[in-house]
Amino acid sequence: MAGTSNKMWGGLFGESPDAIMEEINVSIDVDRALYAQDIAASKAHAAMLATQGIITAKDAKQIAGGLDTILSEITKGKFTFKRALEDIHMNVESRLGELIGPASGRLHTARSRNDQVATDFRLFVRDTLDALDESFAAFQQALVERALEHAGTVMPGFTHLQTAQPVTFGHHLMAYVEMAARDRGRFADARKRLNESPLGAAALAGTSFPIDRHATAKSLGFDRPMANSLDAVSDRDFVLETLSAASIAAVHLSRFAEEIVIWTSPLVGLVRLSDKFTTGSSIMPQKRNPDAAELVRAKTGRVIGALTGLLIVMKGLPLAYQKDMQEDKQGAMEAFSALSLAIRAMTGMVRDLVPDETRMHAAAGEGYATATDLADWLVRTLKMPFRDAHHVTGKIVGIATRQGVPLHEVPLKDMQAVEPKITAAALAVLSVESSVKSRVSYGGTAPKNVLAQAKAWLKRLEKERK
Ligand code: ARG
Repeated sequence: MAGTSNKMWGGLFGESPDAIMEEINVSIDVDRALYAQDIAASKAHAAMLATQGIITAKDAKQIAGGLDTILSEITKGKFTFKRALEDIHMNVESRLGELIGPASGRLHTARSRNDQVATDFRLFVRDTLDALDESFAAFQQALVERALEHAGTVMPGFTHLQTAQPVTFGHHLMAYVEMAARDRGRFADARKRLNESPLGAAALAGTSFPIDRHATAKSLGFDRPMANSLDAVSDRDFVLETLSAASIAAVHLSRFAEEIVIWTSPLVGLVRLSDKFTTGSSIMPQKRNPDAAELVRAKTGRVIGALTGLLIVMKGLPLAYQKDMQEDKQGAMEAFSALSLAIRAMTGMVRDLVPDETRMHAAAGEGYATATDLADWLVRTLKMPFRDAHHVTGKIVGIATRQGVPLHEVPLKDMQAVEPKITAAALAVLSVESSVKSRVSYGGTAPKNVLAQAKAWLKRLEKERK
């Protein structure tokens, strides 16, 4: 049955693969997403082969023309992907044969699918990193704009999810700008290390043809060719690194999503989302569910799952290429889509959410949130050691609790019973406004700090876009 064996590698093979062999081997359903990168890399390779005199200029021209046709067929949805042809590389090459005939067979000179797939996927991950960076910059932009709007809006700050000290809503939002900046830094680092070309490593050992790997690297926008051919075909660090940066970023988004879920709960009621980012319940008419935030929180599982999955795929693999590595793409691609959706949903929610300023203000003063301000006053004005001031304040909080009043409503004489030197001036520091205003240390929550930081970020983001 010679005619039914695979025409790409079937020289030795008399029989077709078993149906289950084909089923487990095929990757076209996943790696068809690499078509643009595959075609770009093939064009770079063919041009280099001609420049080096390995194929004729005429053949190279035919190959390039055929590849362009294939690209447009695929983008227009007019290309038939065949599972029998296993993967994107063989689908493209086979179609090239139909289009240009024998010259197509010269494209694979001095190349293997091993360096081909490594190149394609690097290019794909690089495009992904660039797109993610753009989305995270848009997220930062939305946060900064809302922070400017709410630089002076007081809300409760929490530790242990217990009311701790008043902060401003703008300050809280700016925290996520910093987190996103680190995420973008990690994407940039991953991109830098990723940007070396495996093309020309061939199957694993390099090639005897006089190829120019520097030329193909350059034409594909890589900084240089990878130095070791075995490493070039077997390295998947670039996926792992991107997934790990993506996992940390997803964790950030998940934490923020969790805050939105908490804030919008009627029990808390600090923030409201509009109809655009909530759903109703089919049975409970009063419900307004933060589904988008919940799904952002959940998508994190996919991203971390993909990282864990690929680490496990890679952990036992000897050099160089092993077919296991074909499993590097599906989870990673799903993770990238999940993160891309999550960041866009978060950006939408940041633009949509409306803080309940009255509720935030009231909540900021609950739970004796300005107790530290009283202790600080005792230290500053009475020169009391902080530990003693903490003790005195604790006693006054005890009185307030027994009387069932906020700190600033504890009668002065009751405070003086604890510490005779306390004066009415101390009461002035107990408002939530004066509390946040006083936090002027670098990075602190004072509205003027927040305003300055948000403005600086606005400039920085604008400069980046130029
Ligand atoms: N579809 C394969 C993958 O994604 C391409 C490389 C196949 N190489 C091979 N020697 N069978 O890994």
